[in-house]
Amino acid sequence: MATIAPGRPECRTSPTAYEALQNHFAEHPEERPKHPHKWDVSRSDIYADNTWHPIFKEMRDAGPLHYIPESPFGPYWAVVGHKAIQHIEALPDVFSSSWEHGGITILERLSDEELEESDADRRDLPMFIAMDRPQHTGQRRTVAPKFTPSGMAEMEGEIRQRTGELLDSLPRGEVFDWVDKVSIELTTGMLAILFGFPWEDRCLLTFWSDWAGDTELATVRELDEVRWSLLHEMAAYFQSLWIERTHDKEPGDDLISMMIHSEAMNQMSPEEFMGNLVLLIVGGNDTTRNSMSGFVYQLDKNPEQRKLFEQNPDVIPNAVQEMLRMQTPLAHMRRTCTEDTEVFGQTIKAGEKVVLWYLSANRDEQVFDNPDKLDLTRENARRHIAFGYGIHRCVGARLAELQLRVLLEEMHKRRIRVHVAGDIERVRANFVHGFRKLEVELTQF
Ligand code: HEM
Repeated sequence: MATIAPGRPECRTSPTAYEALQNHFAEHPEERPKHPHKWDVSRSDIYADNTWHPIFKEMRDAGPLHYIPESPFGPYWAVVGHKAIQHIEALPDVFSSSWEHGGITILERLSDEELEESDADRRDLPMFIAMDRPQHTGQRRTVAPKFTPSGMAEMEGEIRQRTGELLDSLPRGEVFDWVDKVSIELTTGMLAILFGFPWEDRCLLTFWSDWAGDTELATVRELDEVRWSLLHEMAAYFQSLWIERTHDKEPGDDLISMMIHSEAMNQMSPEEFMGNLVLLIVGGNDTTRNSMSGFVYQLDKNPEQRKLFEQNPDVIPNAVQEMLRMQTPLAHMRRTCTEDTEVFGQTIKAGEKVVLWYLSANRDEQVFDNPDKLDLTRENARRHIAFGYGIHRCVGARLAELQLRVLLEEMHKRRIRVHVAGDIERVRANFVHGFRKLEVELTQF
């Protein structure tokens, strides 16, 4: 099949939506959002500077949820306690995820008037993460079978082979960026395997995802326009794959073929099919990438835990959970309240925005002893809610866990020790929580 963008992007993120946004704010500092409230944790500087811990701790000490009356994203409830988040996610009919109510991130959707004035195509893509029951149930069912334990077992061999090849190709005795050379490469490869995406074009997945997933872009209109034109390009590419696979006599076992040939597919319009593909690419990309970077960072900061990992590879499955807890690659998800409801002594009114801060819940001292400490043998590490909770709990969790486990196993097999040895740059955003750059050097243990 012909490539639509021959030789264009490498599997790295430059130039990206992210850089475009930061460049825009550098030129127009007056447009940078202002945050007068001391507990307005929507401010992205606290994630870029890694100074969010004491703010969330102070909030948790004062209670599990707080009303923030003023922020660049409007007023919202900040839910910071583990129990309170699970409680809210267990009531999906009261706390809606749908675009009509406001969607899944703190960002406000365009109003109907704003949409009228702009290009009608720029409406939100239908995708099941932003749907309520019963639509959510039917559409999630079209992809869920791919992520069963047997589905994962089928993918493990290829993921392991690609991971091993990549680790063998890494430079020795020189400093390099782990984000570019490992986290992005492996995540892109994992998604290409999942979709049966043409290997030579796999970097397009990263390129599209970096633009499509950046919700803060919508704060700057011209950048949002670029994002929409790239989404169209992506839809056109997938449409050609769809047509190709529809004509396959023997349906393949990749996700696209599986969706096309599934019985539940007749519940989806072509727009929904595209929207759900975007969801899977964006959902699996930054999240898995930032877990891989976070793992290396945490092991470097905790030499005694690194020693434990090196001496005892049996800890790897639990280590994956503990490192996910510590990193929490998505800082929040959002819901909108549909009827006045009392939660832990506070009344949330219909129409109010409710932001679930997973980053805080995973450090909740009422659930995790000594929560800021990395403990690879922590007994209840699995109670983290980095994948969310309830009916929207991450459908790709098993795939992410598989990729992360295989990475640690293959590093261990090769006795690779990773040292942070240069610049660290964190993502300046309140949604994706991770690293832009992590310079490292490898030695043997
Ligand atoms: C949903 C996190 C990897 C696809 C979610 C949610 C979170 C999350 C927090 C929302 C849950 C909620 O609203 O309650 C993560 C993390 C990952 C990861 C931390 C990696 C470490 C993946 C992968 C894929 C994926 C690899 C697929 C390729 C999805 C989809 C949803 C979702 C489709 C929507 C589920 C639904 O609405 O029913 N993920 N994810 N994710 N994720 Fe992931």
